[in-house]
Amino acid sequence: MSHSSIPSPATAHKSENLSGTIRVPGDKSISHRSLMFGGLASGETVISGLLEGEDVLATGRAMEAMGAKIGRDGEKWRVAGTGNGALLEPADALDFGNAGTGCRLTMGLVGPYHMTTRFTGDASLSRRPMKRVLDPLRQMGVAVEAMEGDRLPVTLRGPKAPAPITYRVPVASAQVKSAVLLAGLNIAGRTTVIESVMTRDHTEKMLAGFGAQLDVEEDASGVRTIRLEGQPDLKGRTIDVPGDPSSAAFPLVAGLIAPGADITIENVLMNPTRTGIILTLQEMGGQVDIVNWRDAGGEDVADLRVRYSELKGITVPPERAPSMIDEYPVLAVAAAFAEGETVMDGLEELRVKESDRLAAVARGLEANGIDCTETEACLTVRGTPDGKGLGSGTVETHLDHRIAMAFLTLGLATEKPVEIDDSTMVATSFPQFFDLMGQLGAKIERTGAASQ
Ligand code: S3P
Repeated sequence: MSHSSIPSPATAHKSENLSGTIRVPGDKSISHRSLMFGGLASGETVISGLLEGEDVLATGRAMEAMGAKIGRDGEKWRVAGTGNGALLEPADALDFGNAGTGCRLTMGLVGPYHMTTRFTGDASLSRRPMKRVLDPLRQMGVAVEAMEGDRLPVTLRGPKAPAPITYRVPVASAQVKSAVLLAGLNIAGRTTVIESVMTRDHTEKMLAGFGAQLDVEEDASGVRTIRLEGQPDLKGRTIDVPGDPSSAAFPLVAGLIAPGADITIENVLMNPTRTGIILTLQEMGGQVDIVNWRDAGGEDVADLRVRYSELKGITVPPERAPSMIDEYPVLAVAAAFAEGETVMDGLEELRVKESDRLAAVARGLEANGIDCTETEACLTVRGTPDGKGLGSGTVETHLDHRIAMAFLTLGLATEKPVEIDDSTMVATSFPQFFDLMGQLGAKIERTGAASQ
């Protein structure tokens, strides 16, 4: 499945008293890894709560093209894996659509295989840098063909005897860390990854659950060294995917900025590498109560109750960025209603997401009368607490699902409506967005192809 090529604009209108209880779909990072590791491990992996977004389905199709058997069985997904080391050469290019995570992790996974694998994607993914993953693969002996600047389409050919490496990840990136570790699954000997800032640890946790030998050491300054023993026997398992905090962030912010709102979002992943947005919104004065905190198959989950709040601007610590990297667009929306200034620094990675998110957010805010300043790695937003005079702009989404959802959230609390040029990309990560927001009472209308 790929997203419709006919744009479907959407408009959000001021919506007071949002209320109700919802569950957001499964976590995108864990869903990608569930299909990938399940498709690799021997035996069966049974997944419940899988995010059925286009990004994740593209990863599933790639694993099928390399020999895994994947099927839906009622509410569950069943994956019969090939066994570690036994992926097959795909007959055609693997098309990852909009999905950076699927593409980069799979590059790591198959890079060391002595076969030829070709990777393609949509216009957004084809603009994104792949060098960060291709560099360590080259060090392992993988032959790489790529478009200028190490962009897609990319072709990888693994050597007969790939070499294990020690790799210090040069940017804070869970995708790069994961790609190197996944490559190490098929290399004899020990692969070591060093990350100076902790990023989401789903790969480490889940690989250990599938039976890999991993050792993680953290020094006093927070530098993590992850050692993986190559060629482990991986065994299928049962996975229950918790709700995605990155998707929960949209109703969460809607609940804080829409007057009279009182919303509960159930079963949200509370892994500390993912909860920076909750902490930040609480520091801004947001009433977010974390209730019913529990363990769900090795990950913490909780329910979030959020109520309309008077927010105040803060300076967000830059070192928190990895734990909320996908949430800055919607945080900037919360900041538009905060008293005073919100300073978000350390955002260089936002420039290479599904779009240049720093620029896309700044232009979208400006189009709706919100005062902000953008520098190379920093966004400062000056808020208007009652939303008076704000809105009436049309936002360019640049094929970016999170820009689309962030600005529809904005329009729920601005005086005038907010329009986005295209909402089709929402299906990549949060296909139920419109239904769930509608259940809470959000007035969002879609026009064009996707509205039928
Ligand atoms: C992800 C890692 C992050 C994040 C992306 C998902 C993952 O990217 O932005 O949405 O699942 O590993 P980077 O690792 O490039 O920061």
